[in-house]
Parts: sequence; structure tokens; C-alpha cells
Amino acid sequence: MTGERAGDGADAGGTAGAGRLVDLLRDQARACADLGSPLYARLLTRAADDVLAGGPVRLVLAGHEDDPPGAALPLRLLGVAHRLALSGAAPGYAAHLPSTGGDGDAEAAWSALRDLLAASGEEVRAGLRTAPQTNEVGRAAALLGGLLTAVAQVRPTPGPPVPVRLREVGCSAGLNLLLDRFRYRGGDGRVRGPEESPVELEGAWDSEPPAWPAPGSFRVVERVGGDPDVVDPTSADGALLLRSYVWADQPHRAARLETALELARRVPVDRRRIGAAGLLADLRLQDGALTVVQHSVVWQYLPDDEREAAERRLAQLGEAATPAAPLARVSLEPGGGDAGAFDRGETGYPVTVTTWPGGQRRVVGTAPPHGVPVRWDAQR
Ligand SMILES: C[S@@+](CC[C@H](N)C(=O)[O-])C[C@H]1O[C@@H](n2cnc3c(N)ncnc32)[C@H](O)[C@@H]1O
Repeated sequence: MTGERAGDGADAGGTAGAGRLVDLLRDQARACADLGSPLYARLLTRAADDVLAGGPVRLVLAGHEDDPPGAALPLRLLGVAHRLALSGAAPGYAAHLPSTGGDGDAEAAWSALRDLLAASGEEVRAGLRTAPQTNEVGRAAALLGGLLTAVAQVRPTPGPPVPVRLREVGCSAGLNLLLDRFRYRGGDGRVRGPEESPVELEGAWDSEPPAWPAPGSFRVVERVGGDPDVVDPTSADGALLLRSYVWADQPHRAARLETALELARRVPVDRRRIGAAGLLADLRLQDGALTVVQHSVVWQYLPDDEREAAERRLAQLGEAATPAAPLARVSLEPGGGDAGAFDRGETGYPVTVTTWPGGQRRVVGTAPPHGVPVRWDAQR
């Protein structure tokens, strides 16, 4: 990571600590600019300046100087503030956010955010403990492509639909466990998914790879997701939490989320309050069904020992897989799950598919952090 440092003081909470916070904020500001959020880019740039000036942002972020970049501290900060605006508790800030019908004036938004942090610092600090619940439905485009690749491998010739047992690690509200119920419109104009779905991913991918099986090639028979901070998308609080992590000047993502919330009220999902290692420890393979473990933008949040335990368990399940009880792992993660990739600022995330028996791992495409559009690799 690069970034102008504030100084070389020795103590974590002092000048060096401030320098690390400044780097985190400026790096995320650049990422927001690249990903189409000029408002968040400006707010985080101003927040970095405020840290250097010893303002309210410095106080609110005190104690987080050693947070790893993968913990996404700047997005936690803006998520909590956005929640206060959406809930009506921060009308001054809301007056300038497009998501709340405000004027979108970034400088005025910054000044209101600064006031909010000065007045409600403790409340915001409490909210920083939770990882961003960005349940980004756009990532379903990558996950579905991975799933179709796995189905094609399990059933290379046409036949009855393959029963699929979906398991999602770090599922947040489990919206991407509904991926077979979304409609996908590719850049080539082809459309997949149920006509009547409220969720449409426009520009989901460049074009459909020839290896994908025809629609109807699989049937989801189980949808189980685990997350230590699992969210109920059918509750008012859960929906508010999810909305708060959508960047306030990205109405297309906000609208997409609303359609997924509507679908979530209709389709049952088994959501469990459990971390990655626990969910996988409980998992058993089943004859006559393809078990698919999916995860997106989660691996960076796992503590090292839990990440290792999850990898070990997946390898163990892979060993136990048979042609009658196959297993697939589909992921969209910075660096394909290499925990350091987020820290290095990588923004093209590989879509990977591993299938067992055999354990063949392939990178089948690349997607931006919010999922669409996916570029599928030609050589598949
Ligand atoms: C950025 S969100 C991604 C959510 C979802 N996978 C998606 O792509 O929309 C990161 C998720 O990782 C979850 N998480 C954090 N620590 C975890 C752990 N130890 N095990 C499983 N999930 C975890 C968070 O609660 C959060 O829901």
C-alpha cells in the first residue's frame, strides 16, 4: 500500500499511528473513486486530513491504528454514519446524501459528517466493531458462473437437473444464496434466470462461456448460510443495516439491494450465526447431490487460525468426496483468497472453482469487487 505518511513517531497511537490511519483512509478513498463513488472518495480524503489535524475522525478511530487493511475500517466508519442518516438520527448529514434525498454536496456532507462524529463519537465507535455487512448481490453473477462451471463438470452430458446443496461461508444476510432466482443480462444480450424475478443484474458478464450448461441443468435443494454477524434481511433493522453499507451515491446498487430484499421475503434460507470454521465443521456430503461451498469477500476477515481451519476442513471434505457425492468450492475473493491481496489494493478479483473428487482448481474469470461485470476467461 502506498500513501503519504504523517511521520515516524514510535508509539502506535501517536504520529505513526495517525500515519497508518491516514494511509487506510486515502487508499480507500482511491478505491471508492475507482469504483464510482466520488462522494465517498471526497469524504475519506477529508477524513484523512482531519486525522492529521487531530480532529474528530482521529478520536473516533483511536485504538484502530493497527487494524489490517482487510478489516476495511474506513468502510465501517462510513457505514455507521450512513446508518445514522438513513434512520433519521443524523438529519444534518442526511441533508447532503443522495441516498436520503439530499443534495449530494460533498463538501457540505463532509462538514456535517465531521459534526456528527464530534457529537456522536461513542455511538460511531461502537459500530466500528462489526465487519461491513455489504451483502452485494452483484457478486452473484460471479458465483453463479462458478456454480454453472461445477455443474457442467459433474454432469457433462444433458440429463435431469443436478440437485445442488448450497452452503455459504460469511453469507451476511444470505442474499447470494438466492442466486438461481435472479435474472442475469449479459453484455451479449442473452438473459438467464426466471422471467418473473424482481432481481435483475444488468451487464452481469461479458458473454456466456460455451461450457455452461443449459438453463434447468440444476436445482437448488438446500440454502444454508453462516455468519458470526448474520443478518435477517426480512427485519427492519436487518434491512437498514444492509442499506447502510451501500455507498450513499450509488443508487443502482441501492435499487438492486431493494429487489433482493423483496425476494428474500419470499424464499426461505437457513441462516446460522456461525463462523467459517464452524459452518464447515458441521457440513457433511450427501449421495446424489452436488454440495457447493461458496464465499465472496470474506476470507480477508477471517482470523488466521480460522482461515487455516476452514482450508483444512475443505481439503478433508474434498478427500471424502466421491462421484456420487461431489463437492465444489466457488469463490470471489481478492487474490483468490490470499489474505494479503486486499492489503495490496488488488481490485480485479479472480472467480475460482475447485471440484472434487480430484481437487482441480481453476480461475474461470475476473470480477470487480462488487461483482459485475464478470469477464470470463476464454480458455475454459
Ligand atoms: C464484505 S461482507 C461480504 C458478505 C457476502 N459474502 C457478500 O459477498 O455479499 C464480509 C462478511 O464476512 C463476515 N465475516 C466476518 N468474520 C467472519 C468469520 N470469522 N466467519 C465467517 N464470516 C465472517 C462478516 O460478518 C460479513 O458478513
